[in-house]
Amino acid sequence: MSTIIAPSILAADFAELKKEVEMVNRSEAEWLHVDIMDGMFVPNMSFGLPVCEAIDRYNKKVMDVHLMIEEPGRYVDEFAKRGAEYITVHVEACKHLHRDIQLIKSLGCKAGVALNPHSSVSLIEDVLPELDLVLVMSVNPGFGGQSLIAGTFDKIRRVKELIKKTGSKALIQVDGGVKNTNAAELVAAGADVLVAGSFVFSSDDPIKTIADLKADLA
Ligand code: DX5
Ligand code: ZN
Repeated sequence: MSTIIAPSILAADFAELKKEVEMVNRSEAEWLHVDIMDGMFVPNMSFGLPVCEAIDRYNKKVMDVHLMIEEPGRYVDEFAKRGAEYITVHVEACKHLHRDIQLIKSLGCKAGVALNPHSSVSLIEDVLPELDLVLVMSVNPGFGGQSLIAGTFDKIRRVKELIKKTGSKALIQVDGGVKNTNAAELVAAGADVLVAGSFVFSSDDPIKTIADLKADLA
């Protein structure tokens, strides 16, 4: 399977949201990553349901919603109604992670669990067979434009081993500081899905940046 690219709309120009979503539609990216931040779980706020609904009106890619909110189970049905196909919750934000995963799946969505840089991969071992995606945070969540934490590569390898051991079919996604200089190494470590925010949206030609990234990984 070739590497999936998921541009993060957090890095887009929100005053031009429709144009930015349509740009991603025209690109070779397979997914569109949508970051939801509540100002509690992470020290920043992004946007919420009405903006997600607006994105869904134009988006033609797989909508990949990353919930950086406390007790996300309270809102997963609302995001499912607004086009989310993958819904990822943080292991650190859920009191009842297993229940939240079941809820996401009961809504017909694919379930992901994210691990902050400080969280051990062992935290997800018991739910791995239920998961469609494991999100390895390669920065502390809350802001775009940060540098990838070096320990990420080894962590991806450890998640990959655990996936094999448990017979899980989960994809491994990496989010934060992804760019052309580290993408190949992330994929070699076991990443299936690369989220890229500022690297794509800050470039002069985002469509070409995405195409070049895919060509480098082919
Ligand atoms: C960080 C978000 C990321 C962010 C990535 O909390 O979860 O998805 O948009 O942005 P870059 O690629 O700029 O690090
Ligand atoms: Zn994200």
